[in-house]
Amino acid sequence: MENFSFYLITDTHFFKNSLGARGKEYDEFMRFEQKCFAETESINRSVFEWLKNADGADTVLIAGDLSFNGEKESHIEFIKLLNELKESGKKVYVVTADHDFKNEDDSCFAFDESGRLIPEPTRRDELFDLYYEFGFKDALAFDRQHLSYVAQLCDGVRLLALNNDGADDGQRRFDESHIKWIKEQTKKARDDGQIMFAMNHYPLLPGQPIFSVVPSAVQRESDKVTTMLADEGVHLVFTGHMHNHSINEKITEKGNKLYDVCTGSVIADPAVMRLVTITPESKAIIKTIETPDFEWDTNGKECKQYLSDLFDSMILNMLDDMQYNPERLLRRFGADGKKGIYPIVKFVGRIINKITVGGLCRLLLIKCDKSIKKMLLKNYAAELVRGIFEGNQTFKEGTAKGDVFIKFIKRFNFVFKKVNLNCVDGKKADLFDILKNTAGNYGIDDYNATLNLT
Ligand SMILES: [Fe+2]
Ligand SMILES: [Fe+2]
Repeated sequence: MENFSFYLITDTHFFKNSLGARGKEYDEFMRFEQKCFAETESINRSVFEWLKNADGADTVLIAGDLSFNGEKESHIEFIKLLNELKESGKKVYVVTADHDFKNEDDSCFAFDESGRLIPEPTRRDELFDLYYEFGFKDALAFDRQHLSYVAQLCDGVRLLALNNDGADDGQRRFDESHIKWIKEQTKKARDDGQIMFAMNHYPLLPGQPIFSVVPSAVQRESDKVTTMLADEGVHLVFTGHMHNHSINEKITEKGNKLYDVCTGSVIADPAVMRLVTITPESKAIIKTIETPDFEWDTNGKECKQYLSDLFDSMILNMLDDMQYNPERLLRRFGADGKKGIYPIVKFVGRIINKITVGGLCRLLLIKCDKSIKKMLLKNYAAELVRGIFEGNQTFKEGTAKGDVFIKFIKRFNFVFKKVNLNCVDGKKADLFDILKNTAGNYGIDDYNATLNLT
């Protein structure tokens, strides 16, 4: 085989704007949203236009959450974009995921001036026909029940496209028959001397250490699945879902590697795509590309800045609501009945919004570099959280912001040690270690890396 390259994007969350994304209720909803809503149609159009003309590869993979929330009309409009991309000469392979179907009639939503609207949802059993042309049609094998397939991408490289939103229990679990099918496919790939890599919407390894204690952030039974795939000869998987950008590695007891390359959404900060090259020596060269600018009234901001400000405003709005409108904040998290805690939430909110990093350090007797003393704690917090999603987190040991963070969590380590919390793999969570490695990236470069798959 020769070098084989492809583009990968994920979490396109296409929303057909004419369904309604405006009005007072829309603005209220967007107060706490990290991803775009009304802007997604325009962003996708510019991403697809860019891909059509991109000459780095003629294959495009999309790792799920294609539509905003499963609206039928969003899918129909999105498929027009896929068809145009195909007509431009690109081969397109997709998987669907949790935001691509709804089983209840009233689960999709849109907004206009009159309030909340309910567009027609897409059922899971409609997805096979809808996306037949983009994976299933040319597949070497497919498992219709599990919406999974194997595609020959080029001479020597096979894609194992997985979906596990099974209708049975909705638990995103790989059931026994699915595992059996996967093992048949991996064996075939080995017998045929093929490099096989996978695409699965849900991260198989936690994108960031903190996600290891958030069950919805990781594939169910991820430990079992990653061990199975790596030992079966699949050493690379592309994921999405959390809208974070990361690369993580695991080595099984048998000494086999698995890399999880999780890519950020194209419609939310950090708004990125990947260009991947698989070499005959079983190396994967991963590059990150920023999404192109899109047409939108961004109040004069560059598109990149517009998206990162949207992320920060989600954090800052939460902190603002803690102080001024705890009811609205708690309503968003389904805890609005707890009026007794409003004064405490307000008090904590007032302090976070007002205090500087230097002020907090004085209170905790922590040494703080003068370059960040005057920085408001809320801005420090927003930057810290945004970094977790953007990847290559900068709050590392040896930096002004990182040193303060590490001293801060050291102060509270005696509390962390008393917390009985398990990670998704069942191991006890070491909160100090998790927080340190979440604020700063000490591992593989999340943006550009060469991964040795053997
Ligand atoms: Fe998503
Ligand atoms: Fe998702």
